[in-house]
Amino acid sequence: MSAIVGEIMYILLSCAISLDGYLDDATDERLVLSNAADLDRVDAERAGVDAILVGANTIRRDNPRLSVRSPARRAAREAAGKPATPLKVILSSRDLPADAAFRADGAALITHGPLDAVVKDLADRGVERLMVEGGGRVLTEFLTAGLADELQLVTAPFFVGDSAAPRFVHDGRFPRTSRSRAVLASVSTIGNVVLHRYLVSDEAIDHHWLTRAIELSHRCPPSTTAFSVGAVIVDTAGEAIAWGYSRETDDLVHAEESALAKLPPDDPRLRTATMYSSLEPCSRRKSRPASCSRLIREAGIPRVVFALREPSTFVVGEGAEELTSAGVAIVECPELADQVREANRTQLGA
Ligand SMILES: NC(=O)c1ccc[n+]([C@@H]2O[C@H](COP(=O)([O-])OP(=O)(O)OC[C@H]3O[C@@H](n4cnc5c(N)ncnc54)[C@H](OP(=O)(O)O)[C@@H]3O)[C@@H](O)[C@H]2O)c1
Ligand SMILES: [Zn+2]
Repeated sequence: MSAIVGEIMYILLSCAISLDGYLDDATDERLVLSNAADLDRVDAERAGVDAILVGANTIRRDNPRLSVRSPARRAAREAAGKPATPLKVILSSRDLPADAAFRADGAALITHGPLDAVVKDLADRGVERLMVEGGGRVLTEFLTAGLADELQLVTAPFFVGDSAAPRFVHDGRFPRTSRSRAVLASVSTIGNVVLHRYLVSDEAIDHHWLTRAIELSHRCPPSTTAFSVGAVIVDTAGEAIAWGYSRETDDLVHAEESALAKLPPDDPRLRTATMYSSLEPCSRRKSRPASCSRLIREAGIPRVVFALREPSTFVVGEGAEELTSAGVAIVECPELADQVREANRTQLGA
């Protein structure tokens, strides 16, 4: 979903590191950092993408096949009309060995040039989901170019202890700094390694929090006269500071109102926070004097993300317009709208 090239592509970065942040040791032999269960997880991720990309040094040093290994996953891809293994993309401006292992199975593309042009070319070839598997230089380029949605980082329980070894990331200006952090979407232990899944693009982060808001909307007590909505307020450090849902504390309370009521009105974090609401904030209310759009404006929240415009079932909503004219940034995520309609089936007469 990296919007930077104006294309809809989800870019997933994947690698394994030692405790001291190295991708390999400095010897000629290939260092395997993760375990069999994790390599199988990586195989499943590969089976779910349209292309796998690595840098030329990874080919020269590790000579990987870059293929989906599991026969069942290969068969499932073919049954879905795809090649058994995703397109292999190698970034290189030089020739690579004719007998390199990646050439043995499926289509490969050796390419080079500015990264946004490479990504644009892949989008034109129909790649919607790209997995970048290293090495350090290529991972650094994708991260610093803002061309990454998700980072799957596996940490193995040992030290390399040699600064001549290749590092996970090199120096650079990373878009997510201390003020605007990545979101830790999940942590899991896989045998003796740990998998951290970080979301690193605005698009992936908005999708994550909006999904949480939609989950909250399923807690709403049933109603035929008002929508079921969930809301989460997230600060710039990437933490949910308050949340709420419709009818949470009384029969009439709205989700955004309920979330805001949990914070002091002068909480300084509100001035830079994002309000995630499954539905466009209301602009008129039958039940209370202050609409959620007004409460959001008064709280000083500068950014609102929602999935569905308010359907005109109960009142005509103009929350997005009202907020926009007040200088609040509005982001709509229509890819999640069906989930919001689903949570409001009764109200929408479906
Ligand atoms: N632990 C893991 O998960 C993992 C995963 C992958 C790799 N690794 C390790 O990482 C090490 C390799 O990493 P690395 O940082 O040295 O190299 P790398 O990122 O694999 O490859 C860098 C090379 O890619 C080419 N390249 C990069 N960007 C390009 C661009 N925009 N256009 C054209 N070519 C571009 C250049 O090759 P040319 O010189 O051919 O132009 C460049 O020298 C290996 O030791 C490998 O074992 C570990
Ligand atoms: Zn409301």
